[in-house]
Amino acid sequence: MTVKLPDGFAYLPEYLDRPAQKALLAHVSEAVRGDAPFFQGRMPRTGQAISVVGSNFGSLGWVADIKGYRYEPLHPKTQKPWPPMPQILLDIWDELTNYPVPPEACLINWYREGNKMGMHVDRDEHDLNAPIVSISLGDPARYRLGGPKRGGNTHALKLSSGDVVVLAGAARKCYHGVDKIFYGRSTLVPKGGRINLTLRRVNKP
Ligand code: SIN
Ligand code: FE2
Repeated sequence: MTVKLPDGFAYLPEYLDRPAQKALLAHVSEAVRGDAPFFQGRMPRTGQAISVVGSNFGSLGWVADIKGYRYEPLHPKTQKPWPPMPQILLDIWDELTNYPVPPEACLINWYREGNKMGMHVDRDEHDLNAPIVSISLGDPARYRLGGPKRGGNTHALKLSSGDVVVLAGAARKCYHGVDKIFYGRSTLVPKGGRINLTLRRVNKP
């Protein structure tokens, strides 16, 4: 059987070794203990809470509340700027993309037991040609990749700690989501669960 994934989709298993995973997690821990604690977003209009809590690094951060999905320079609760993008993330972006400018946002999502993420396309960025680089830390997840239209064929992929996915080209506009977390399988995250980091360019170069 041949599985045809969308053009521009790259799956890089074990891209980061354990020391690199720990170094990234240390940046996350420092950020969320400091000016950028995890916060719970809400779905626009309905105001329904999003189960996966989030925070950000970078000059802009993705936020979700009753008013909509958008990028903001300040944390919604602390009103402080997001912590700067760690150099290690800028290096990964340069290694994996040919994009001429750096990412402005890194969304930090923390999936705890039972959390999932519905199928969606990332389209809150002004620059929809820039790739998205997604880094998995901690417990494995079952990731689902679809096509450009909701409801088409999908492929499931298990993402483990240190794996990296790139959504570029046609894949950048494809539906994707997280079906489930294999909770408790990894020892990387002290409080348990899975941390996903997504690097995004928001504004056109
Ligand atoms: C997302 O792209 O929204 C989530 C990706 C992930 O958690 O692996
Ligand atoms: Fe996404």
